[in-house]
Amino acid sequence: MKKIFAFLLCVAMLTLCFVGCGETADENKGNADDTTVADDTTVADDTTAADDTNKVIKMATNAAFPPYEYKEGDAFVGIDVEIATAIAKKLGYTLEIVDMEFDSIITSVQQGEVDFGMAGMTVTDERLLEVDFTSSYATGVQSVIVVDGSDIASLDDLAGKKIGVQLGTTGDIYASGDYGEDNVTKYGKGADAVIALKGGDVSAVIIDNEPAKAFVAQNEGLKILDTEYAIEDYAIAVKKGNTQLLDDINKALEDLTADGTIDAIIAKFIKAE
Ligand code: ARG
Repeated sequence: MKKIFAFLLCVAMLTLCFVGCGETADENKGNADDTTVADDTTVADDTTAADDTNKVIKMATNAAFPPYEYKEGDAFVGIDVEIATAIAKKLGYTLEIVDMEFDSIITSVQQGEVDFGMAGMTVTDERLLEVDFTSSYATGVQSVIVVDGSDIASLDDLAGKKIGVQLGTTGDIYASGDYGEDNVTKYGKGADAVIALKGGDVSAVIIDNEPAKAFVAQNEGLKILDTEYAIEDYAIAVKKGNTQLLDDINKALEDLTADGTIDAIIAKFIKAE
């Protein structure tokens, strides 16, 4: 009887040992899983290693606004594109451009989908309630495009006329305020407003002066009125409260202004008259 008891005890201990061993193996498996997690850490390490090369900074723009941002084939080109590339490089990032409707840029910055918005964007009091702006890097002037031989020769002549603008731009905001929403037709792109002008759907287009010059150069029979509707500052929009990025970009802009980079980029795209 004692022997049987001793035998049973042995079996019980062996069983315990197996279970125990099993548990250890399971723990090892657990460790193996941890190793997989550690692989992720390797990915994290890569990210660290990539700090100088692969860290991406995202810019929202509307690449239909020459000479600030437009496309040549699949490539984004223009003043803003080159300045943003120079800023990103200075800050140790690779620039990624996200092309969208002009109207969506501020929301996209506010929601953190992109790091900043740069699109020949004018600093206005209303926008300052929604985003923070860096120091200004360029000046813009709202201009009026009409067809050759138009009876519109001054801003006063615009009263009661159909005006085309790009949706959500300052041209849209000012024209809607001064001449009435009913007289303003809003297009997704400035170029579409220009097509409407050529087709007689609108009698004038209000848009920033440099794109205005580019559109007039690309299209026969158009001219820019010798009048300045509004003078504005262009700046880069960042999410409200993102003071680190704001300060970093401002410092980069300061350096790029001091060493002549900004002037050189602007001169490359805007030939002195
Ligand atoms: N300066 C004007 C504004 O801020 C027009 C900018 C339009 N820019 C563009 N990429 N479509 O409202």
